[in-house]
Amino acid sequence: MCGIVGYVGKEQATPIIIEGLRRLEYRGYDSAGIALLNASSIHVVKEVGKLSALRSRLQKESPVGTTGIGHTRWATHGVPSEVNAHPHHDCTRSFMLVHNGIIENYTELRQELLDKGHRFVSETDTEVVVHLIEENYSGDLLRAMLSSMRRLKGAYAFAVIAAHEPDTIVAARCGSPLVVGVGNGCNLVASDASAVLSHTRRVVYLEDNHAVRLGRDNLVVCDIAGNEVEPNVKEITLNLSDMEKAGHPHFMIKEIFEQPSLVADVLMRRIPPTSREIDFQEARLQTLGLDRIRRVMMVSCGTACHASMVGKYYIEEFARLPVEVDVASEFRYRNPVITDDTLVIAISQSGETADTLAGVREARRRGAKVLSLINVEGSSIDRESDATLYVYAGPEIAVASTKAYTAQILALFLLALFLGRKRGLLEEPHFREVVKELRLIPGKMQSVLDNHEVVKICAHKFSDAPNFLYLGRSYNYPNALEGALKLKELSYIHAEGCGAGEMKHGPIALIDDTFPVVCLAPAGRVYEKMVSNMQEIRARRGILIAIATEGNKEMAAQCEHVISVPHTHEALSPLLTVIPLQLLAYYVTTMKGLDVDQPRNLAKSVTVE
Ligand code: M6R
Repeated sequence: MCGIVGYVGKEQATPIIIEGLRRLEYRGYDSAGIALLNASSIHVVKEVGKLSALRSRLQKESPVGTTGIGHTRWATHGVPSEVNAHPHHDCTRSFMLVHNGIIENYTELRQELLDKGHRFVSETDTEVVVHLIEENYSGDLLRAMLSSMRRLKGAYAFAVIAAHEPDTIVAARCGSPLVVGVGNGCNLVASDASAVLSHTRRVVYLEDNHAVRLGRDNLVVCDIAGNEVEPNVKEITLNLSDMEKAGHPHFMIKEIFEQPSLVADVLMRRIPPTSREIDFQEARLQTLGLDRIRRVMMVSCGTACHASMVGKYYIEEFARLPVEVDVASEFRYRNPVITDDTLVIAISQSGETADTLAGVREARRRGAKVLSLINVEGSSIDRESDATLYVYAGPEIAVASTKAYTAQILALFLLALFLGRKRGLLEEPHFREVVKELRLIPGKMQSVLDNHEVVKICAHKFSDAPNFLYLGRSYNYPNALEGALKLKELSYIHAEGCGAGEMKHGPIALIDDTFPVVCLAPAGRVYEKMVSNMQEIRARRGILIAIATEGNKEMAAQCEHVISVPHTHEALSPLLTVIPLQLLAYYVTTMKGLDVDQPRNLAKSVTVE
């Protein structure tokens, strides 16, 4: 939800800011802008559309200056237009500000500022902040920012420059991520660390209600009351090369194909070949008091929520603990029953999803211990949880989540085994048997990927269909939801996922001879039930696409198209069946000529409610 970057140093800031924005474009891409400070004048360039549009414009008018801020937008208040694009300015154009988040009390503040004679030009909530700074300024930008923060309600990360304060950026955060890059002769600020990594590995994750003043060689952090705070500088270990396409046409396909090696690497880390137990050492699980846990609640959004649903099956199966799964946006506004024997598990790739973060805060406020499963180390949810299990998916750049989903499912499977062992419910022979099968998963995933042409043919046959239905049962029910989400968010084809047993209670009315139904039917306890539901579709002339276990002849006889996956333990089958679903969405989307890495209206990191 919007990416912000700022640079103050000795080099020309424009290319540095644009490169940072390129790394943050996953956060929003409906318009972009940049403001450069040169002596006491500020040069602003904004453009509607993706960053490439701003880039082309900058080739014609390149602003000069060694201090500047930039923004890539995901619209909340006001349509994507040049006037609504950031940076925003005050009445005299002396201050320029970029913002990520939502100012909830902007209507009342705007009226107050209008009454004082301020003139507004945009429809955004952001503009009130830069006018507030103008109002509060008396020669010190940091102080003006702190005074303004005290008036704001909502979530924000800001960076602001002022014509009267050369070589200075002031930034602040409350609820939206912000990281300071501590360089040599320069300092940066950005929505995430990837945007500063070309310049420094030393970062400060700004705390909520803190503001920072950055000069070329100095930085001062203050809390909202104006007290100076010692910055906590950390070294980051991310690799820039992991954030490139590495010869693939899109990030999404690169990330899909990374899944076998990702699973192999996680297994090597979590259950090294000589080990008989699962190694969660870095997670500090002992802080959770696991011995007294009698119940689990999971909070997450989107794809992470589908992974939570798979995790529910795992924890109930192997650890015999009751599990509830909630979408975070519902959890935070109902009145959940949380007792001191409840463990809340929050799952998030980015670790910044606003609803999930609010769920974590709410759970802790009610006295629960929170364990988070996170991909991005140092993210807000990581830092605010009692314990964190990293899923180690590596940087996921495509807006549609693929490898992070697999990594979340794997982490949940390992967690369920760990809890089962700890609770004395999973005997060693059974544990060894499932781990043995788990070690075969990377090879089996690779063979599904090697078969990608079969999925491509399927995509070719059905890419014109206006609707799709996805059906699954048991461990593969969440994958039905995930398959539908992948297809709709990328290709804009309407798709629904449904528990196969639920189909007859409504969705079956949709079926006719134009309607493709993707059925997840790997071998397992519910296979026969799945076959019956597929017969019901066939009887209504629906088009059956099956994802089934290799060697299944029954499916070949009954379905329009069959995609095979190797045999595995049924609990592990979602790790295999999800790959054709990801590939199907990818191929249908590319066949339609759509932007697979940056679908319309979406952003990867949803830091607003
Ligand atoms: O970063 P998170 O895992 O918390 O993100 C949650 C969802 O926003 C995310 O999974 C979203 O649904 C993706 N677009 C799915 O591909």
